[in-house]
Amino acid sequence: MCGIAGYIGYREAYPIVINGLKRLEYRGYDSSGVMLYDGKEIQLSKTKGKVSDLEVITNKEEERKKGRIGIGHTRWATHGVPNDINSHPHVSQSGDLVIVHNGIIENYDSLKKELISRGYVFQSDTDTEVLINLIEEVKKTEKCKLGKAVQLALTSVIGAYAIAVFDKTKPNELVVARLGSPIAIGIGKENKEFFVASDASPFIEYTKEAIYIEDEEMAIIKLGKKIQVRKIQNDALVNHNVLELQMSLEQIEKGGYDHFMIKEIHEQPKAIIDTYRGRMLPDQGMIKMSGIDDHLSKFLHADRIIIIACGTSWHAGLVGEYLLEEFVRIPVEVEYASEFRYRNPVITSKDIVIAISQSGETADTLAAIKLAKSKGAFVFGVCNVVGSSIARETHAGAYTHAGPEIGVASTKAFTTQITVLSLIALKLAKEKGTFSESRFQNYLRTLELIPNQIEQLLNIDATVKEIAAVYKDAKNCLYLGRGFNFPVALEGALKLKEISYIHAEGYPAAEMKHGPIALIDENMPIFVIATSKGHYEKVVSNIQEIKSRSGKIIAIVTEGDTQVKEIADHVIEIPETEEAFTPLLTTIPFQLLSYHIAVMLDKNVDQPRNLAKSVTVE
Ligand code: F6R
Repeated sequence: MCGIAGYIGYREAYPIVINGLKRLEYRGYDSSGVMLYDGKEIQLSKTKGKVSDLEVITNKEEERKKGRIGIGHTRWATHGVPNDINSHPHVSQSGDLVIVHNGIIENYDSLKKELISRGYVFQSDTDTEVLINLIEEVKKTEKCKLGKAVQLALTSVIGAYAIAVFDKTKPNELVVARLGSPIAIGIGKENKEFFVASDASPFIEYTKEAIYIEDEEMAIIKLGKKIQVRKIQNDALVNHNVLELQMSLEQIEKGGYDHFMIKEIHEQPKAIIDTYRGRMLPDQGMIKMSGIDDHLSKFLHADRIIIIACGTSWHAGLVGEYLLEEFVRIPVEVEYASEFRYRNPVITSKDIVIAISQSGETADTLAAIKLAKSKGAFVFGVCNVVGSSIARETHAGAYTHAGPEIGVASTKAFTTQITVLSLIALKLAKEKGTFSESRFQNYLRTLELIPNQIEQLLNIDATVKEIAAVYKDAKNCLYLGRGFNFPVALEGALKLKEISYIHAEGYPAAEMKHGPIALIDENMPIFVIATSKGHYEKVVSNIQEIKSRSGKIIAIVTEGDTQVKEIADHVIEIPETEEAFTPLLTTIPFQLLSYHIAVMLDKNVDQPRNLAKSVTVE
């Protein structure tokens, strides 16, 4: 969590850092701060609240914005409540060193006691202030430069970090380091300027050249010089290839929409095409996925597939379970990464683990991958962010190619993850012979239609808005689905909870009678997925049960449905497709519904309270 943005070069740093922080607010937004250095004085501005609150402070005094070196931070609190003092950047006791930090220093307490015994006094409750003073203490006692001091200090740190450190006595350099949290370094022409950030979005309009340092590495960034990357443990030099960034500015801006979430909902047709482009080849009757092709025999001879993920990605994993078991006839288990990593799971080298993560940085998923690898499993990643920690940690994988997802509530990440899982299931079904050639071809052609069908479905926006207006004041909601659409019910409920703060539960429709039915009365909206091939008659019976208890029914049905229309209070139609692909459609009305309810309730859609886009802490 937390976003870091920094600049060193010939331009004014303030606008670069502030705009960079705004792009990183998806990582946390409970407080923010910026340090500028104008060649004489360090200017520190920080506050509880968003980057826009920080701007109110900096706008009062032009001095606060001056300087060609700057580091900034947008925070998601771990140690210490969100307030002005705990906000980053933090300054060392001498006033010379300044740090921004993303992560947690787990042994901060013992380090702090040691530093207090050496005369250090702390202003904040943060682990970060401990780290900057530790660096200062090392620099003093070892009489070394900043880079060496950072390296030595980090060898005694337990935890996770991405840091950027500035030293007033050496103002032409920045030192960055990472363990468990990402850091990208943008490189300007002839090394005349450098950018540092938690991802490349803050500097995309300035340079397309970047390097991503790895865990346990640090970089010394000096103006006019090539970046020096070193191993933190042994100080060895590391050679990093400079990457050409593919991201465009347009991709990370709202493009005329009011919020990123609604923009990303509307991007789904294109995102899904990008996901299957070059992989799904109906004319050649095949699916090409190098991550699977290169390890095909492992997949074909696996005893079992275990899917690990968190949140929305976990819901996509559940859809994956239905897809893989149905298509490939292989046992699949879906696990919360946070549970899996701590329960000593039984895993063998004949297991394949599929780890799903939009950000590729989720701490629990990353730890679960490391555990699975240590037990001999082959780990396949399904990530959106290229070059992310999870993408690098896995043996092989497939990117979702959804493009940057900025809205905290996942939308296009979910549907593109399901698309990748559908491709994997179809490919393995063909290779394993569990699908006949004609069934395979038929499914390929059906999947190819989905982007257009979503496009068509997005036209229901006005209808969904009307439904949102009716139910926006509900206190509790129930989401029901069966089979492939049970995970969509979970996801629908999660979307509503996240951005509108209305309590909602997702349930398998038939489970309703084992408890939740007690909640139903005339005030309870119940969203039911009743697609024509998805245990339709059984779901209709569930709808009848709700009706006879006066619950309000909002049903998602297949085009042409007549039966549910007679019973439900509201009906939303989705185009006809194979039942296995219906989650790609049924989820769209739920995304729109949560969006409209949140807007009507005047909630912060893109940055809901207490959440962050990538959860890099446990
Ligand atoms: C929900 C949401 C979260 C994430 C979860 C995992 O809208 O965004 O539940 O799905 O934090 O994140 P990733 O996929 O980045 O591992």
